[in-house]
Amino acid sequence: MVENANITAYMKSKGFDDYETFYKWSLEHRDEYWDDQAKELHWFEPWQKTFEWTTKPFFKWFVGGKTNIVYNCLDRHMDTPVRNKVAFHWEGDNGETRSMTYEQLYVETNRLAKGLQNLGLKKGDRVAIYMPAILEQIIAVLAVARLGAVHTVVFGGFAANALRDRIIDAQARLVITADGNHRGGKLIQLKNITDEAVAETPTIEKVVVFNREGLDVSMKEGRDIYWHDLLADIPADTVVPCEQMDSEDLLYILYTSGSTGKPKGVVHVHGGYAVGAYATTKFVFDIKDNDIFWCTADVGWVTGHSYIIYGPLMTGVTSVLFEGTPAYPNPDRWWSVAERFKVTILYTSPTGIRGLMRFGEEWPAKHDLSHLRLLGSVGEPINPEAWMWYRHNIGRDELPIMDTWWQTETGSIMISPTIIQPLKPGSATRPLPTIEADVVDKNSHSVGLGKGGFLIIRHPWPSQMRTIYNDPARYQTYWETLPDVYFAGDAATIDKQGFIRVQGRVDDVIKVSGHRLGSMEIESSLVSHPAVAEVAAIGKPDELKGEHVKVFVILKNGFEPSDELAKELKLHVRTTVGALAVPEELEFTPSLPKTRSGKIMRRVIRAVSWVSRSVIPVHWTPEHKTYPYHCVPDYKNRSRQNLVCSCFYSRGHIHLVTM
Ligand code: WT7
Repeated sequence: MVENANITAYMKSKGFDDYETFYKWSLEHRDEYWDDQAKELHWFEPWQKTFEWTTKPFFKWFVGGKTNIVYNCLDRHMDTPVRNKVAFHWEGDNGETRSMTYEQLYVETNRLAKGLQNLGLKKGDRVAIYMPAILEQIIAVLAVARLGAVHTVVFGGFAANALRDRIIDAQARLVITADGNHRGGKLIQLKNITDEAVAETPTIEKVVVFNREGLDVSMKEGRDIYWHDLLADIPADTVVPCEQMDSEDLLYILYTSGSTGKPKGVVHVHGGYAVGAYATTKFVFDIKDNDIFWCTADVGWVTGHSYIIYGPLMTGVTSVLFEGTPAYPNPDRWWSVAERFKVTILYTSPTGIRGLMRFGEEWPAKHDLSHLRLLGSVGEPINPEAWMWYRHNIGRDELPIMDTWWQTETGSIMISPTIIQPLKPGSATRPLPTIEADVVDKNSHSVGLGKGGFLIIRHPWPSQMRTIYNDPARYQTYWETLPDVYFAGDAATIDKQGFIRVQGRVDDVIKVSGHRLGSMEIESSLVSHPAVAEVAAIGKPDELKGEHVKVFVILKNGFEPSDELAKELKLHVRTTVGALAVPEELEFTPSLPKTRSGKIMRRVIRAVSWVSRSVIPVHWTPEHKTYPYHCVPDYKNRSRQNLVCSCFYSRGHIHLVTM
């Protein structure tokens, strides 16, 4: 396996036979490495310059090149044997299955592109996609990008307000949705939610509705149109040529949560993103012609963009798309999907593994998983117990596990082993070629082996976000928080072997089941409720989900704490933000710790509340000088209390980060 690895072949072509020497070479030959990767893709016009810092921290890759990522996913394969290969095996929540070849996907993408063109959609327009995990979701994404329009996919689990805010920020002209769908046996009324969202969005002109369930939904005259009506007169031989996009033209906006404020629209572009997604799929998952690749993520998150849609399609591999949930109707659902489609590469999340671990080893044991040859993990640190269970029960004690670290902002995998490198449970191990990752102090100086610090990357890479949509200043903070480097928001250590261990976020991002939530999103939802005066939302370590949401709520005068009110507030979060954001714990409190300037000190609340539920005394106000630092190990210096910038929880210890 190691001899035939894709990464080995590339290393050999450059004269290397060990990864570490090759990696060092790649840092010195960044442009050469990326030129080589980009040349494997199709360009309408070649680039003139590989990389250019315009005005730091803004930059360009493949300057002057013309391409379209969809050409690389579909058109390019039409004169090769990939044309007749299955692009996706799909399984619905209710067990129905459907397969679609690359050619069929090409045909349907062209038809929808034509339909959207008929609605007036053109290059640069924004389209929100709010759909279930069905093949039409992928067709929608590809059709929009084919026209040079910009997609913003919104996770089907988000509620109306969240959808509305994303549409408003992106100024989308069109929404593509479905009537509804079932997940884990539960009906989600996507069209109703869309109607509620669109009622408050001035820019939406059309709503395209795919009929998934045959629900009787209301269709607004002149605005709403069924997918099948839109396509009724469009023949199968319709070709809408790919819009020739500049390397730096927008491909998509994907909203993600930050520490503060509303969700940020992370911007990715056609050229560099394609090259990054393609190269990482090829090297990390070592894709071969006969592989069946299954990434269990949702297309609504970046993992789905890069490793369900774009990366796999560019490599021409056969993938699996699954609409359901891991344990419905039984705790072996995932393993039965993997068996049925003879999956060879499985890419999933620590939360998924931990969730299924609970049900016991007998569930995977019922299934023939012998086709598997490679495993992957993403989204949050994988605890060694989950790693071992995954390796033993799914990986027959022999399969390599690629623990891949990356982010919505990085576009593709940054730190991960490849199949030729040694593994270590709980560590994403080493950076991929050209990725100059390091662990540093507040001056961007390396902290050295064995010490904790901030995880950073020193130089841009092709698939990196280009900006935050409509908010370039917010993009700049990624490069300015720590001098001159990209700061990811995570804490990490590098051990004596040079292996990186990511410990978790050092900002106010909450990671629930690997999904990113901002404290502010939950707080602003709750303060919009008439009973609520002030809120602090924090993440708390959770055995299953990695973290869960806990909120501290100060009620307005005239409202009394009660179980009913707590329930009502939780429901309020569910209906405004989405089920993912619902607080598992809700505590009423008369006051919250604040800085002198009145900012709620979430990170202190977090550190303290992790240690014990009771340590946030109800009488704890900034005036009380009894700061309960005694419960925070390793931090007793009271005079530095305002310097606490963050904290994180790792292996039973609270770490406070001071600046
Ligand atoms: C954050 C990014 C990357 C796609 C899914 C999440 C955490 C991600 C790992 C990993 C430890 C990880 C980090 C990162 N994270 N992968 N392998 N080990 N932590 O994308 O929602 O943008 O979240 O996920 O904290 O900053 P995202």
